[in-house]
Amino acid sequence: MPLIPMRTMLDHAAENNYGVGAFNVNNMEQIQAIMTAATETNSPVIVQASRGARSYSDDNYLRHLMLAAAELNPKIPIAMHQDHGNSPETCFSAIDQGFTSVMMDGSLQADGKTPSSYDYNVDVTRQVVEKAHALGVTVEAEIGCLGGIEDGHGAGFSGEEAAEHLTDPEEAERFVNDTNCDALAVAIGTSHGAYKFTKKPTDDVLKMELIKDIHRRLPNTHLVMHGSSSVPKELIDIINEFGGEMPATYGVPVEAIQQGIKHGVRKINVDTDNRLAITGAIRRVFTESPGKFDPRDYMKPARAAMVEVVKARMIAFGQAEQADKVPVRTLDDLKKFYLV
Ligand code: G3H
Ligand code: 13P
Ligand code: ZN
Repeated sequence: MPLIPMRTMLDHAAENNYGVGAFNVNNMEQIQAIMTAATETNSPVIVQASRGARSYSDDNYLRHLMLAAAELNPKIPIAMHQDHGNSPETCFSAIDQGFTSVMMDGSLQADGKTPSSYDYNVDVTRQVVEKAHALGVTVEAEIGCLGGIEDGHGAGFSGEEAAEHLTDPEEAERFVNDTNCDALAVAIGTSHGAYKFTKKPTDDVLKMELIKDIHRRLPNTHLVMHGSSSVPKELIDIINEFGGEMPATYGVPVEAIQQGIKHGVRKINVDTDNRLAITGAIRRVFTESPGKFDPRDYMKPARAAMVEVVKARMIAFGQAEQADKVPVRTLDDLKKFYLV
């Protein structure tokens, strides 16, 4: 099956009350791990690449790896998504490379760091929606900025600053009406990376009630949770057992994500959990077999460790056993859909 537009997958997820994990990739092994997990659980998948991933792996390698994934797994619907596009140009170049979905993250300016104005966000998102929809490509946008509410934690903002940048449900409603994006990333207290919370998050730092409010206002917009790795203690323990030095930390509990899925969350971004699994597996080989130097000796267990994490998330999000039920739609079908 060719790569399919993400919109088709998220529409099916909404109709059938499940969520789809969007897993970040940078190399062949990560793509293979996702495809193995998808095949073993019969799941549709979203494979996503950040700007950093695209520059690390080079667009051409990435494109051919994704085409290989589609060719080798004809029964698995795959959407290829640009994660955190920082400008319309980044999104357009992803579309040129065959991505079937793009995120225009206009919540930040083009530097990917500075919070932008509402008008800037609407302007860049609209530009991307106009071009992408004309080609049948799906658009995710973001309103509010990610960051952890707990002091000292969070990839970008933390503490009061993060709280100020949470998504305002009223603004979210206006933003979707102003831009016509397909999916909306919301800031509810999660942050990227391993250090999200210092204890199991409670309602005051992980604001799931915002999701409910936004979904009530925008029942037809697919909500996206970024920074949604669960950071399981077992994965941190493996890293530390084999020479790592990671402090205790907490992520987003799977149960909170499942709660979100009941209220309109359809795409769940997971990168850190896979990074942890890969690192733990490699550290184990390096510690237990310091004489080994063939990359396959540590890349194989690393890939296998990622398969287990991805499978567990696919089952928890409800996408397992859905691959053969997602309708097959092409970009051309979606072009017509957007014209109506
Ligand atoms: O957005 C965050 C993802 O984990 C990708 O991270 O920009 O380091 O590739 P990256
Ligand atoms: P994590 O760092 O929690 O895995 O989040 C990844 C993400 O949101 C990618 O866009
Ligand atoms: Zn993200």
